[in-house]
Amino acid sequence: MTTYRIAPSLLSADFARLGEEVRHVIAAGADWIHYDVMDNHYVPNLTFGPMICQALKPHAQTADGKAVPIDVHLMVQPVDALAAAFADAGADLISFHPDASTHVHRSVQAIKSKGCKAGVVFNPAESLEVLEWVIDDIDLILIMSVNPGFGGQGFIDSALRKIEQARKWIDKSGKDIRLEVDGGIKVDNIRRVADAGADTFVAGSAIFGKPDYAAVIQAMRQELSAG
Ligand code: DX5
Ligand code: ZN
Repeated sequence: MTTYRIAPSLLSADFARLGEEVRHVIAAGADWIHYDVMDNHYVPNLTFGPMICQALKPHAQTADGKAVPIDVHLMVQPVDALAAAFADAGADLISFHPDASTHVHRSVQAIKSKGCKAGVVFNPAESLEVLEWVIDDIDLILIMSVNPGFGGQGFIDSALRKIEQARKWIDKSGKDIRLEVDGGIKVDNIRRVADAGADTFVAGSAIFGKPDYAAVIQAMRQELSAG
Protein backbone atom coordinates (compact mmCIF):
# COMPACT_ATOMS: atom_id res chain seq x y z
CA MET A 1 0.00 0.00 0.00
CA THR A 2 1.40 3.36 -1.00
CA THR A 3 1.64 5.94 1.74
CA TYR A 4 0.77 9.20 0.07
CA ARG A 5 2.15 12.47 1.33
CA ILE A 6 0.80 15.96 0.77
CA ALA A 7 3.33 18.79 0.87
CA PRO A 8 1.75 22.25 0.83
CA SER A 9 4.06 24.83 -0.75
CA LEU A 10 4.67 27.94 1.34
CA LEU A 11 5.14 29.91 -1.87
CA SER A 12 1.39 30.57 -1.84
CA ALA A 13 1.15 31.23 1.91
CA ASP A 14 0.75 34.67 3.47
CA PHE A 15 4.38 35.80 3.82
CA ALA A 16 3.44 38.26 6.55
CA ARG A 17 2.30 35.36 8.77
CA LEU A 18 4.55 32.45 7.80
CA GLY A 19 4.90 30.76 11.20
CA GLU A 20 1.16 30.81 11.71
CA GLU A 21 0.60 29.49 8.17
CA VAL A 22 2.97 26.56 8.83
CA ARG A 23 1.11 25.65 12.03
CA HIS A 24 -2.26 26.14 10.42
CA VAL A 25 -1.50 23.91 7.41
CA ILE A 26 -0.01 21.20 9.65
CA ALA A 27 -3.17 21.26 11.77
CA ALA A 28 -5.06 20.90 8.49
CA GLY A 29 -3.19 17.65 7.74
CA ALA A 30 0.01 18.53 5.85
CA ASP A 31 2.59 15.72 5.86
CA TRP A 32 5.56 17.82 4.75
CA ILE A 33 6.18 21.56 4.40
CA HIS A 34 7.44 22.34 0.87
CA TYR A 35 9.85 25.30 0.94
CA ASP A 36 10.65 26.86 -2.47
CA VAL A 37 13.99 28.64 -2.66
CA MET A 38 14.38 30.91 -5.69
CA ASP A 39 17.48 33.00 -6.39
CA ASN A 40 16.45 35.29 -9.26
CA HIS A 41 19.22 33.64 -11.31
CA TYR A 42 18.35 30.00 -11.90
CA VAL A 43 14.69 31.06 -11.94
CA PRO A 44 13.25 34.54 -12.50
CA ASN A 45 11.91 35.02 -8.98
CA LEU A 46 13.23 35.52 -5.46
CA THR A 47 11.82 33.97 -2.28
CA PHE A 48 13.33 33.10 1.08
CA GLY A 49 16.66 31.88 2.42
CA PRO A 50 18.01 29.73 5.25
CA MET A 51 17.34 32.29 8.01
CA ILE A 52 13.60 32.11 7.41
CA CYS A 53 13.79 28.31 7.29
CA GLN A 54 15.51 28.34 10.67
CA ALA A 55 12.88 30.69 12.08
CA LEU A 56 10.09 28.40 10.85
CA LYS A 57 11.66 25.17 12.11
CA PRO A 58 10.07 25.34 15.59
CA HIS A 59 6.67 25.80 13.94
CA ALA A 60 7.09 22.67 11.81
CA GLN A 61 5.53 20.26 14.26
CA THR A 62 2.12 18.93 15.12
CA ALA A 63 0.21 20.17 18.17
CA ASP A 64 1.44 17.10 20.09
CA GLY A 65 5.07 17.83 19.22
CA LYS A 66 5.74 15.49 16.29
CA ALA A 67 8.21 17.01 13.83
CA VAL A 68 6.93 17.64 10.31
CA PRO A 69 9.68 17.44 7.66
CA ILE A 70 10.76 20.61 5.86
CA ASP A 71 11.13 19.74 2.18
CA VAL A 72 13.49 22.30 0.67
CA HIS A 73 13.28 22.70 -3.11
CA LEU A 74 16.36 24.60 -4.24
CA MET A 75 15.91 26.55 -7.47
CA VAL A 76 19.35 28.09 -7.16
CA GLN A 77 22.67 28.03 -8.94
CA PRO A 78 25.26 27.15 -7.67
CA VAL A 79 23.86 24.55 -5.29
CA ASP A 80 26.31 23.27 -2.69
CA ALA A 81 26.86 26.23 -0.35
CA LEU A 82 23.15 26.99 -0.03
CA ALA A 83 22.34 23.31 0.41
CA ALA A 84 24.73 23.21 3.37
CA ALA A 85 23.20 26.39 4.80
CA PHE A 86 19.72 24.87 4.60
CA ALA A 87 20.90 21.67 6.25
CA ASP A 88 22.19 23.81 9.13
CA ALA A 89 18.88 25.70 9.15
CA GLY A 90 16.86 22.56 9.87
CA ALA A 91 15.89 21.22 6.43
CA ASP A 92 15.03 17.52 6.44
CA LEU A 93 15.01 16.92 2.68
CA ILE A 94 16.93 19.01 0.17
CA SER A 95 16.34 18.75 -3.58
CA PHE A 96 18.22 20.52 -6.35
CA HIS A 97 18.11 20.76 -10.12
CA PRO A 98 20.97 18.72 -11.67
CA ASP A 99 21.40 21.29 -14.46
CA ALA A 100 22.16 23.90 -11.78
CA SER A 101 25.07 21.88 -10.37
CA THR A 102 28.44 21.39 -12.05
CA HIS A 103 29.06 18.19 -10.06
CA VAL A 104 25.75 16.49 -9.45
CA HIS A 105 27.14 13.53 -7.54
CA ARG A 106 29.12 15.85 -5.28
CA SER A 107 25.99 17.91 -4.52
CA VAL A 108 24.10 14.74 -3.53
CA GLN A 109 26.95 13.70 -1.25
CA ALA A 110 27.20 17.19 0.24
CA ILE A 111 23.52 17.05 1.22
CA LYS A 112 23.74 13.54 2.62
CA SER A 113 26.90 14.25 4.58
CA LYS A 114 24.87 16.83 6.50
CA GLY A 115 22.37 14.14 7.51
CA CYS A 116 19.60 15.31 5.15
CA LYS A 117 17.72 13.32 2.55
CA ALA A 118 18.73 14.26 -0.98
CA GLY A 119 16.55 14.72 -4.06
CA VAL A 120 17.02 15.60 -7.71
CA VAL A 121 14.48 17.70 -9.61
CA PHE A 122 13.57 17.48 -13.28
CA ASN A 123 12.19 20.40 -15.28
CA PRO A 124 9.41 19.75 -17.82
CA ALA A 125 11.77 19.46 -20.82
CA GLU A 126 14.53 17.59 -18.99
CA SER A 127 15.08 13.86 -19.34
CA LEU A 128 15.78 11.45 -16.49
CA GLU A 129 19.12 10.15 -17.71
CA VAL A 130 21.16 11.43 -14.79
CA LEU A 131 19.29 8.93 -12.59
CA GLU A 132 21.47 6.22 -14.08
CA TRP A 133 24.35 7.67 -12.05
CA VAL A 134 22.72 8.90 -8.85
CA ILE A 135 19.78 6.62 -8.15
CA ASP A 136 21.72 4.56 -5.61
CA ASP A 137 22.39 7.68 -3.54
CA ILE A 138 19.14 9.64 -3.57
CA ASP A 139 16.01 9.54 -1.41
CA LEU A 140 13.67 11.59 -3.59
CA ILE A 141 12.88 12.32 -7.23
CA LEU A 142 10.90 15.50 -7.86
CA ILE A 143 9.17 15.88 -11.20
CA MET A 144 8.22 19.44 -12.17
CA SER A 145 4.83 19.66 -13.80
CA VAL A 146 5.25 23.41 -14.38
CA ASN A 147 8.30 25.48 -15.25
CA PRO A 148 9.86 26.46 -11.93
CA GLY A 149 9.61 30.02 -10.65
CA PHE A 150 5.96 30.74 -9.92
CA GLY A 151 2.93 29.29 -8.20
CA GLY A 152 -0.50 29.04 -9.75
CA GLN A 153 0.50 27.71 -13.20
CA GLY A 154 -1.32 25.00 -15.12
CA PHE A 155 -0.24 21.33 -14.95
CA ILE A 156 1.83 20.23 -17.98
CA ASP A 157 0.44 16.88 -19.09
CA SER A 158 3.69 15.42 -20.41
CA ALA A 159 4.79 15.24 -16.76
CA LEU A 160 2.54 12.19 -16.43
CA ARG A 161 4.72 10.22 -18.85
CA LYS A 162 7.82 11.30 -16.98
CA ILE A 163 6.29 10.21 -13.67
CA GLU A 164 5.65 6.78 -15.20
CA GLN A 165 9.28 6.59 -16.31
CA ALA A 166 10.55 7.70 -12.91
CA ARG A 167 8.38 5.09 -11.21
CA LYS A 168 10.04 2.41 -13.37
CA TRP A 169 13.48 3.68 -12.34
CA ILE A 170 12.50 3.48 -8.66
CA ASP A 171 10.95 0.03 -8.94
CA LYS A 172 14.02 -1.25 -10.76
CA SER A 173 16.31 0.15 -8.06
CA GLY A 174 14.34 -1.59 -5.32
CA LYS A 175 15.11 1.40 -3.11
CA ASP A 176 12.81 3.42 -0.88
CA ILE A 177 12.73 6.60 -2.99
CA ARG A 178 9.87 9.11 -2.83
CA LEU A 179 8.39 10.24 -6.14
CA GLU A 180 7.16 13.80 -5.70
CA VAL A 181 5.38 16.00 -8.23
CA ASP A 182 5.31 19.79 -8.12
CA GLY A 183 3.15 22.27 -10.02
CA GLY A 184 -0.50 22.69 -10.84
CA ILE A 185 -1.73 19.90 -8.56
CA LYS A 186 -5.38 20.27 -7.53
CA VAL A 187 -8.12 18.06 -6.14
CA ASP A 188 -9.34 17.32 -9.65
CA ASN A 189 -6.04 16.01 -11.07
CA ILE A 190 -4.25 14.47 -8.07
CA ARG A 191 -5.71 11.04 -8.80
CA ARG A 192 -4.26 11.01 -12.33
CA VAL A 193 -0.86 12.01 -10.95
CA ALA A 194 -1.03 9.19 -8.39
CA ASP A 195 -2.10 6.71 -11.07
CA ALA A 196 1.02 7.63 -13.05
CA GLY A 197 3.10 6.55 -10.04
CA ALA A 198 3.61 9.58 -7.81
CA ASP A 199 3.38 9.21 -4.03
CA THR A 200 4.09 12.75 -2.82
CA PHE A 201 2.22 15.85 -3.97
CA VAL A 202 3.21 19.48 -3.69
CA ALA A 203 0.30 21.90 -3.78
CA GLY A 204 0.62 25.63 -3.29
CA SER A 205 -2.23 27.67 -4.68
CA ALA A 206 -4.69 24.75 -4.40
CA ILE A 207 -4.32 24.80 -0.61
CA PHE A 208 -3.20 28.29 0.45
CA GLY A 209 -5.47 29.88 -2.13
CA LYS A 210 -8.55 28.53 -0.34
CA PRO A 211 -9.99 29.60 3.02
CA ASP A 212 -10.32 26.05 4.40
CA TYR A 213 -6.97 24.23 4.09
CA ALA A 214 -8.23 21.11 5.84
CA ALA A 215 -11.13 20.76 3.41
CA VAL A 216 -8.74 20.80 0.43
CA ILE A 217 -6.29 18.34 2.00
CA GLN A 218 -9.16 16.03 2.95
CA ALA A 219 -10.58 16.22 -0.57
CA MET A 220 -7.13 15.34 -1.95
CA ARG A 221 -6.85 12.35 0.38
CA GLN A 222 -10.34 11.28 -0.61
CA GLU A 223 -9.27 11.27 -4.27
CA LEU A 224 -6.15 9.30 -3.38
CA SER A 225 -8.05 6.68 -1.45
CA ALA A 226 -10.65 6.23 -4.19
CA GLY A 227 -9.68 3.97 -7.07
C1 DX5 B 1 7.17 26.41 -8.56
C2 DX5 B 1 7.33 25.81 -7.19
C3 DX5 B 1 6.12 25.12 -6.70
C4 DX5 B 1 4.90 26.00 -6.54
C5 DX5 B 1 3.70 25.18 -6.87
O1 DX5 B 1 8.42 26.77 -9.04
O2 DX5 B 1 8.39 24.87 -7.19
O3 DX5 B 1 6.39 24.42 -5.50
O4 DX5 B 1 4.75 26.53 -5.25
O5 DX5 B 1 2.60 26.01 -6.85
P1 DX5 B 1 1.19 25.51 -7.42
O6 DX5 B 1 0.79 24.32 -6.61
O7 DX5 B 1 0.33 26.70 -7.21
O8 DX5 B 1 1.39 25.17 -8.87
ZN1 ZN C 1 8.62 23.52 -5.42
